[in-house]
Amino acid sequence: MRLPALSLLSAFRQTLVQQVQNTSVTPLLLKQYRLKHSDSGSKMFSPAPFTKDFFFRQLFDEATWTYTYLLADLNTREAVIIDPVLEKAKRDANLVKDLGFTLKYALNTHMHADHITGSGWLKQLLPGSKSVIAKASGAKADIHIKEGDPVTFGRHRIDTLATPGHTNGCMSFVIHEQGCIFTGDTVLIRGCGRTDFQEGDPAHLYENVHSKIFTLPDNFRIYPAHDYKGLMESSVWEEKTYNPRLTKTKEEFINIMDNLNLPYPKKIDVSLPANRECGVYDIPKE
Ligand SMILES: [Fe+2]
Repeated sequence: MRLPALSLLSAFRQTLVQQVQNTSVTPLLLKQYRLKHSDSGSKMFSPAPFTKDFFFRQLFDEATWTYTYLLADLNTREAVIIDPVLEKAKRDANLVKDLGFTLKYALNTHMHADHITGSGWLKQLLPGSKSVIAKASGAKADIHIKEGDPVTFGRHRIDTLATPGHTNGCMSFVIHEQGCIFTGDTVLIRGCGRTDFQEGDPAHLYENVHSKIFTLPDNFRIYPAHDYKGLMESSVWEEKTYNPRLTKTKEEFINIMDNLNLPYPKKIDVSLPANRECGVYDIPKE
């Protein structure tokens, strides 16, 4: 009973092969077929490699679970640092010196509540560097930015996105050429920053993530400001697929965020006044 069906299938395949062999655009057809049938998962596993002149280093503060990122142009040696931590400023400054970089900017994705920024101390340790934060944050800095203001180091360019929601001054930093985004606390790996203080607004967070971050290519790497489980990076595809909060509807998301009942942040009363003075705060002597 099965033989005729198999024969029919075999004949059908043979016809297809003949049709493909008889056409002059076979490679193009095959390419289109592969593109059509490649799924998001496979795209996620092939992030664009960093260019050879782009330096990337992820650094960690074990006391506050904060990731700091040192980026540089390997030809001009100009560097920027994202979300430095006060207690790690000497470590970071030494690394910049060891590698022969010139620190141009110390950027903060937002006014942090859980730690004091290292921008101020870095400015003293590496004279000439400037602190940068969103104007909407309300924090002091040498340079205030808003969405669309580019930040450059060497030939590299950071595109700035306003992504308020965790705080009203949150920004995310995209480097399109390198296929990566630094999301601060806006998108964490399988999570997101809380929205119950610092003018937090879950609706804004959800809308900004879905319209500005989840619209980036699936294989863009996501680098958050923290991770509490040892995960170091994610991708747009992973968070669009697995983030337990941000994959929900906006209404469900708001409901989740409004009912987290999190404890009052331990360091907020120290961190916020210090970070409001971002870049010029009292620096410890040692
Ligand atoms: Fe935060």
